[in-house]
Amino acid sequence: MDPMTKFTPKDHEAIETLEVPESVSYNWEYDSSRKRLSRLYENAKRDQWNATERLDWSIDVDPERGLLPDVAIGIYGTPIWEKLDAKQIEKLRHEQVTWQLCQFLHGEQGALLATSQIVTSVPWYEAKQYGATQVMDEARHVEVYRRFIQEKLGNEYDVNPELKKLLDQILTDSRWDMKLLGMQIIVEGLALAAFGTLRDTTTNPLLRDLTAAVMEDESRHVAYGVLSLREYCNDLSEAEKTEREEFVYEACVLMRDRIQSREVWERMGLDPDECIHHAENGGLAAQFRHRLFSKIVPNVKSLGLLSERQRERFHAIDILQYENETTSDVDHDIELERRVRAGESIEAVAAA
Ligand SMILES: [Fe+2]
Ligand SMILES: [Fe+2]
Repeated sequence: MDPMTKFTPKDHEAIETLEVPESVSYNWEYDSSRKRLSRLYENAKRDQWNATERLDWSIDVDPERGLLPDVAIGIYGTPIWEKLDAKQIEKLRHEQVTWQLCQFLHGEQGALLATSQIVTSVPWYEAKQYGATQVMDEARHVEVYRRFIQEKLGNEYDVNPELKKLLDQILTDSRWDMKLLGMQIIVEGLALAAFGTLRDTTTNPLLRDLTAAVMEDESRHVAYGVLSLREYCNDLSEAEKTEREEFVYEACVLMRDRIQSREVWERMGLDPDECIHHAENGGLAAQFRHRLFSKIVPNVKSLGLLSERQRERFHAIDILQYENETTSDVDHDIELERRVRAGESIEAVAAA
């Protein structure tokens, strides 16, 4: 397969510029009393990696098999799936994995932009310092997804409209805490759950290693969001908390719709509404999709943003069930990622 040299956006100009209100905060105190943030910064410096050297880019990739489990495809096991022939299933796998990884890529670009904004606007010195490491992390994530898609998949999708809407909202809000909430808690919380499933199920060693490497960074990123926001949210008024709960709820609904991959059904020549209907009501694929919220809900709860009203709404969209799962503020996740990287098997670490 000839590698693509660039993407050809269909619904967007190649360069899109947003005019945004921005606050820029100096910090002349250089306070470093936030120990956990300082520790995250130390971890981030220790765990930088070079994608050119760490990953074996010579590994062959067959986009038509072994990248994503079929259960990740919304219509898997439904009557529509049963009617597809072998060739169509191969094409669908190629389209689905391309769509998925392209959304990761576009999301990573959004994270790169949002994180650089957070560095300028967050008032705390430790948070600026840590945030600077994350800007580098996100640049690396854009690099690895871009390279994998262009060299190994030779196929592309524009940014999904719902994901774009959320990214725009995060990037044009001048408040740093809203950026952290949208990016670190919602977008990255969702990504971390999706990456975890991908790492544990893909049979391609390059995609597995790439995902594991990105996850090491992402677990720090979500921890950063939780640590910073927990301190900040404590001091918010009820009205301010309500506004943030609204934002979280709307973002979860948007992201739930985003996971529908309507663009894939359209490209396959299938009826998108019928596919989405089956995907929402199918057994395995629907469970797979819900699982993506397993990181967001406990983290939102630990920020004090899970009021009775919010619990009822989460219940209605069927994601409240994750409220008691572990949160990301502990160094636990980071430690597990490190052990996997040091060579312990994923199974052994998960059982610990
Ligand atoms: Fe990232
Ligand atoms: Fe990230």
